[in-house]
Amino acid sequence: MWHKLIKILHFFLVGIVLSGCIAAPNVLNPRSSVASSEAGLYNVVLVIAAGVFVLVEGGLIFTIIKHRRKRGDTSEPEQISGNTTLEIIWTAIPAVLVITLFILTLNTMQAVAAPPPSKGDLNVVVIGHRWWWEFDYPDLGIKTADELHIPAGVTVQITLQSADVIHSFWIPQLTGKTDVIPGQTNHTWLNVPGIGTYSGQCSEFCGIEHANMRFNVIVQSAADFQTWVVDQQQPAPAPQTDLEKAGAQIVTQGICSACHTVDGTAAQGKIAPNLTHLYSRSIFAGGIAPLTDANLQAWVMDSAAMKPGSLMASVHVSQQDIDKIMAYLKTLK
Ligand code: CUA
Repeated sequence: MWHKLIKILHFFLVGIVLSGCIAAPNVLNPRSSVASSEAGLYNVVLVIAAGVFVLVEGGLIFTIIKHRRKRGDTSEPEQISGNTTLEIIWTAIPAVLVITLFILTLNTMQAVAAPPPSKGDLNVVVIGHRWWWEFDYPDLGIKTADELHIPAGVTVQITLQSADVIHSFWIPQLTGKTDVIPGQTNHTWLNVPGIGTYSGQCSEFCGIEHANMRFNVIVQSAADFQTWVVDQQQPAPAPQTDLEKAGAQIVTQGICSACHTVDGTAAQGKIAPNLTHLYSRSIFAGGIAPLTDANLQAWVMDSAAMKPGSLMASVHVSQQDIDKIMAYLKTLK
């Protein structure tokens, strides 16, 4: 009954507003305890608001119809001044509603508050950049981008930092928004029971590519996560073919190395995504495109065409150099 009512209300109120983003991750389809608590509070508020709306608007329409001036009636309407009973009622009901919502909100705030750090937690430092997300695992020695891997059922303590402007960290199905502020460290947390991939999005306007500042959260079994960790901890493999070696020269010692890191090489740039295991990811460039050879090549040739405003230096690279760079990048698994 309750679920049916909620569904109907969502259909009428939310469905219409959100119909333009039908494929977007839905905050009302929560997949973690935090998101469930937030969605639960939202639903209670929605039901109460819908009830108030129906009663107030219903009363208004009823009165307009019932008490409208009859045809040929020229008499003055009854003149009324004050009604103590009614005034007490319409003061008391909103007061009760506001107090109820206040208590429910306090409960929800308690339910979504971060648990104190404990030994089994996974610590992740999330750094917002224009316009991509960096994920550092300080205890594991891993730095990656665009995809946040976490094990299912484990509490993840997330430290939020910004490299430049204010961003906001948001995974609609997993947790509400937390601002990511330069010069200040914020904190949020996750504990996701179900294996799966969840979309995240920057939710604070941060410049021209704000909408293209996305990421995926990949929730894995403990064993799969461990495998991922071990893979990520390896340095980049040495290039084998002449083409790969020539590409490595450009990437790790040429212009790319000013911004990008490839672990185990001379490339130690810190302002752009770590490329050591680039091809272990399924998306890139702030989550705007699947990582395919064709997409990556288009990106290397002209990043601004794919993502106008991208801060990746646009340099003219010859087709020969592109072939070398791509040959090397493909070894970074
Ligand atoms: Cu970062 Cu919007």
